[in-house]
Amino acid sequence: MADTFQAPRGTRDILAPESERWHVLVARFAHAARQAGYRPVIPPMFEDLAVFQRVGESTDVVRKEMFLLEARDGDARQALRPEQTASVCRMFAQHRPATPWKVFYSGSNFRYERPQKGRYRQFDQVGAEVLGTDDPDVDVEIIALAWRFFEQIGLRQVSLQLNSLGDGEGRANYLASLREYFGVHVGALSAQSRETLSINPLRVLDSKRPEDGEIVAGAPRMVDHLSPQDRAHFDGVRAGLDALHIPYELTPRLVRGLDYYTRTTFEFASAALDAAQNAVGGGGRYDGLVADLGGPGVAGVGFALGVDRILLACDAEETFGPPPSAVDVFVVSTVAGTDALELTAELRAAGIGADRAFDSRSMKSQMKAADRSGARLALIVGSQELESGNVMLRPLRADTHQQLVPRVEVVARVRAALDATES
Ligand code: HAM
Repeated sequence: MADTFQAPRGTRDILAPESERWHVLVARFAHAARQAGYRPVIPPMFEDLAVFQRVGESTDVVRKEMFLLEARDGDARQALRPEQTASVCRMFAQHRPATPWKVFYSGSNFRYERPQKGRYRQFDQVGAEVLGTDDPDVDVEIIALAWRFFEQIGLRQVSLQLNSLGDGEGRANYLASLREYFGVHVGALSAQSRETLSINPLRVLDSKRPEDGEIVAGAPRMVDHLSPQDRAHFDGVRAGLDALHIPYELTPRLVRGLDYYTRTTFEFASAALDAAQNAVGGGGRYDGLVADLGGPGVAGVGFALGVDRILLACDAEETFGPPPSAVDVFVVSTVAGTDALELTAELRAAGIGADRAFDSRSMKSQMKAADRSGARLALIVGSQELESGNVMLRPLRADTHQQLVPRVEVVARVRAALDATES
């Protein structure tokens, strides 16, 4: 007997109708982004490992979760992308497009995580990035793009958490005071946090371990250490969000799972999901990342939203169901010959969604298939119809009568019938 296989751990096969919602969701996002002046980029699925290492040496993503590719030619070290911001910055450094460079993307990412509901080893994101300006209005535009997208798909239980991580001297001063504070309490920290502390004290703030809880709660806050410029920038972002009536919660300990962030950071949490996987998206500024990847010193800001989790949130909130069938007409033929072939081709060429049965099934079985297809009309060809040069047009969803229509007028008559049954 042949071996049987299953999808690898942490991956999912996505079948209809889930795959149909998925496509509509990505298309909706693309539409919203293009309307705001963003243009698509398609980064490679893998890069030199060093590109992704810029995401942060102290992060789980780099330390534990990278999918390394086995190189065939010896020393090239490459990895599947764990996210797309680093690739977008590498693209900018390589191609030097005019600024502001406003781009969006969608696609799969790979992180070797412990799989659970809402956390996969292959997951999809849609995202947007703006490179080449540190205007706080851009932070607001980026946040607003994600916020309106959640609204458009009907999610009502998403909240925005906002923080500023500062930059430059303010950030250095803050890190010094964090080190000092954690240094005093190091004995009470978890072993994991003690290790993290020596690499990046900010990461300790992200600890979810109960033994760290109290110490983390008493730690100094970045917002109290912002330089005057960073404070003004953050005030600008907040004023912009207020102007657009986008509510947010100030979250001083929001550090995010990646290390490249400067100044504004934010996360979107869904109250409809379990707390451990409730982040449906996140992002922020990364004003040093392009330079870190060998490019010019340009500022950047962006976000990525998790498609898998957004759809889980849609389920929980009972919104954004699968789209209606794109098949308008189902062709049923009980006669031998090329009628079904020609009719479906003719309808499709005229822009009308059409499907049919195969294998010379019985009338009953074909009518069942017609029903399952979601079509609103069946076009039936039997020997009588064939002889008289007609086809039978039968409504499947409406309470109207079937009618015999001349074969030569079929496209026009189908159109008229579809218009009449428009829901
Ligand atoms: P991130 O927070 O790592 O940020 O991921 C963004 C979103 O992707 C998360 O909020 C979550 O919805 C989804 N996600 C992440 N990991 C998984 C997983 N294992 N399974 C399912 N969903 C997941 C970034 O990736 C940054 N590149 C965002 C960004 C763009 N920052 C600036 N620009």
